[in-house]
Amino acid sequence: MSVRDDAITAHGGGELVDAKAPESERASLKARAASLAAVKLSARDLADLEMIASGAFSPLTGFMGEADYVRSRDEMRLASGVPWSIPITLGVDEATARSLKTGTDVALVNDSGQGLAILKLDEIYRVDRVREAQAVFGTAEDAHPGAKNVTSTPPWCLGGKVVLFEEIPGRTFLEYRLEPRQTRAAFRERGWKKIVAFQTRNPTHRAHEYIQKAALEVCDGLLLHPLVGETKGDDVPAAIRMETYKVLLELYYPKNRAMLSVMPAHMRYGGPREAILHAIVRRNYGCTHFIVGRDHAGVGNYYGTYDAQKMFERFSAAELGITPLMFENTFWCNKCLSMASYKTCPHTDADRLLLSGTKVREMLRAGQAPPPEFTRPELAAILVRAMREAK
Ligand code: ADX
Repeated sequence: MSVRDDAITAHGGGELVDAKAPESERASLKARAASLAAVKLSARDLADLEMIASGAFSPLTGFMGEADYVRSRDEMRLASGVPWSIPITLGVDEATARSLKTGTDVALVNDSGQGLAILKLDEIYRVDRVREAQAVFGTAEDAHPGAKNVTSTPPWCLGGKVVLFEEIPGRTFLEYRLEPRQTRAAFRERGWKKIVAFQTRNPTHRAHEYIQKAALEVCDGLLLHPLVGETKGDDVPAAIRMETYKVLLELYYPKNRAMLSVMPAHMRYGGPREAILHAIVRRNYGCTHFIVGRDHAGVGNYYGTYDAQKMFERFSAAELGITPLMFENTFWCNKCLSMASYKTCPHTDADRLLLSGTKVREMLRAGQAPPPEFTRPELAAILVRAMREAK
């Protein structure tokens, strides 16, 4: 089935990018790569490579060249004008940059030197990582995990198309790692037309469940789409989160309305700009709606509670190709005796169960389960056990 038969096109209006070599060409590409200059990719580069190759980053066909880099950094658009809020670069040190020639092919290898892809090296250019961090995150401080990742990436960039000839080793949750073509096919199979995606890097609490289900009331299906690439050290590891997602769907969601699949991307903690990227990517996975709640993709106090939502005002729904569904800060209210938000609950904070992430971590560390109004007991048990085992 061609992509044109899909309910929605890929981001930018074209077809989904497919940068994976056909099976029949893989062996010869692999042999050729062995004779090329090799560039080692970090875990984050590999996550980007997987996103590009699968079409999740459509219309990107490779790591960005300078024109896309500058415009995405300064105007949140690609050189073509298509919205793109965070630069996707392959950074290398100066010695590597100087050893390579544009117009040649380069082998992209993992840490142990295994060849995975060929990069058609169109451009080698130098960037200012501090300026990039300032533009993307609003700060270049090391205390911001995304900014720190950017400023510690070398400033020389290799731009050009990639062709993947080997599945990236060490990929986790294979059973749940559906690529955009596969999620689109799964939605078609289920007969879903309006599909809402939920990005998450945390275990699911009642607030998440509430907004997912509120969205589901007006959509056909929910894609629970946790990010499983690199996250910061004190975030709950993906393997534990996955346990909570599976139990949650099993016990609290109708089977024909919700689907779990993972996204290989790494977390940038880019708040508003990352919210835009998260939405664009979910369009590529075939979703029509995207949940943006409180402090989406935020970290510490770097962004205001609704900054990510406000960022969507800068783009038309048509050019993003996916409709954001915005949610207020939600919580359990003891007077309403239900989940609620500032929009729907007339009571005071004294009546509300408002637990910070820090407070919840403290409770879990002390072996104490958060109350059922905050986290489903079956999920709390998983988190308490994981904390105990981590000690
Ligand atoms: S995120 O970094 O992936 O955004 P998290 O997994 O905590 O972190 O959040 C997933 C989504 O749920 C985001 O859209 C976020 O804004 C939203 N969200 C999280 N907690 C709440 C809450 N209490 N009220 C409303 N929205 C929330």
